[in-house]
Amino acid sequence: MVLLIYTTFIYFAIISLTETSLPTITPAHKRTLDLLSSDQGQFIIENLQKISDKIREEEVKAPEQEDIPVTYDYDSITRNTDPNHTKAHLQFWQNLSPKAIATYKQDWKRFIANLSPYSSFQSKYDGTGIVFTAGNKDTLNRTLTIISIMRDYGCNLPVEVWHLPDERFSAKEVKQLEALNAISKDLSGPNLVRPVQKKRDAEKQFQIKAAAIINSEFQKVLYLDSDNIPTRNPEYLFHSKEFEETGALFWPDFWKTHPENRIYDILDIPCSDTWEQESGQIYLDKERAWVPLQLAWYLQSHHELYFQLLNGDKDTFKYAWEALGAPYHMAETFLGMAGTMVEGRYCGHTMVQYDLYSSGYGEASPLFIHANLLKITDKTHFEQDGKERPWDTLKRYTATRGNTWLHPEFYIAAHGRACMDFTHPNGEPEVILEPIDDIIPGFQERYFELGGKGGEKRVVEV
Ligand SMILES: *[C@@H]1O[C@H](CO)[C@@H](O)[C@H](O)[C@H]1NC(C)=O
Ligand SMILES: *[C@@H]1O[C@H](CO)[C@@H](O)[C@H](O)[C@H]1NC(C)=O
Repeated sequence: MVLLIYTTFIYFAIISLTETSLPTITPAHKRTLDLLSSDQGQFIIENLQKISDKIREEEVKAPEQEDIPVTYDYDSITRNTDPNHTKAHLQFWQNLSPKAIATYKQDWKRFIANLSPYSSFQSKYDGTGIVFTAGNKDTLNRTLTIISIMRDYGCNLPVEVWHLPDERFSAKEVKQLEALNAISKDLSGPNLVRPVQKKRDAEKQFQIKAAAIINSEFQKVLYLDSDNIPTRNPEYLFHSKEFEETGALFWPDFWKTHPENRIYDILDIPCSDTWEQESGQIYLDKERAWVPLQLAWYLQSHHELYFQLLNGDKDTFKYAWEALGAPYHMAETFLGMAGTMVEGRYCGHTMVQYDLYSSGYGEASPLFIHANLLKITDKTHFEQDGKERPWDTLKRYTATRGNTWLHPEFYIAAHGRACMDFTHPNGEPEVILEPIDDIIPGFQERYFELGGKGGEKRVVEV
């Protein structure tokens, strides 16, 4: 069996040498990648090493321009691309030379070829737990509330909260974490697989997500953003059939990737009319997800390039898995949103991610309340008597399962509030509005009782 796989692999390797690229994903190659996480993988790794050494000696040549048949609908995708991201990067995509693309492609393939297998690190990992990254007072404050809520739900999984070296928590904060069976972890610590020393020269530190997951002591990880609040104990999805089958659970985002985005060429995958990933929650089994997780780390750590293609860290996971043909499960139900009315129009400031179809909570049961825009939303309009009620109404489309004909919209409301809305101008499904207090009773009260942070107070100039 192993011999057969090896022979098949070498066959593709020979083809790949003549094309200066590693094989395209075939069932045999997929199997090879699976093997990379096993002991037999060492054998293959050594051969990949030889291949990549050869590649290294060759000069990278720009490929011939070929006419690739278009199999997607340009307009159907571009009506859903993130306008901000496209505006900022379209020119960069159009100016990337074929030679640059070929070089970037070769670089990540070489990285994969040189990777050490999971078995080399296995002794570092054990059990199941939750991983956060929280680098400042604000994100730590939010994280503490989320851990308290999960403890309230009866979730006893151990928690790690990762920070960069210059963001060390105070003794008091460490104690607060410990009281919740959570520990603070330094991303520059000794003996880590992927230590991070430096801060990215930007406000958001997106590139540390994969590093935190890899460095975590857990073998199976639920990664959560510090503004992402589960509505119930999220542990059960580790036992879902989808997790058991794939070792990777992802959730969708409001956007699609622009057809002119060169990420498709660099990663050697076809452009398709599908939703991007929203990485505020990820379930991974590192043993099975080892190789694609390392590629996600690679894309994140080369953020100077890849964040001009992908919109922050979020899609580095899905695209890494796609590039390697590795299995994952994308939650079937399209995300909804939570928010309030602002001056006559619905303003969604929170993403609502639904449970998996199979897990018995029904088609559209909210599992993660990801308040991604809440923190940059002026709270004046949802604050009464000093109490905040940011989640008034949940808005979602009907018929969202596997549906790509939907129309999420981003707009700026009064006082510069960032808002999302769902519209249906061109035959998209109907939208439903539901009172949050009916859908997740007591959620909002409990969040604020446990020290939850809502919107910000802006000085409104009159
Ligand atoms: C959109 O881009 C502008 C600058 O181009 C930036 O100020 C704004 O925050 C962006 N909005 C979002 C929601 O990313
Ligand atoms: C978060 O900060 C607010 C003050 O801004 C405080 O009232 C609240 O108790 C803090 N929450 C936690 C969990 O420490």
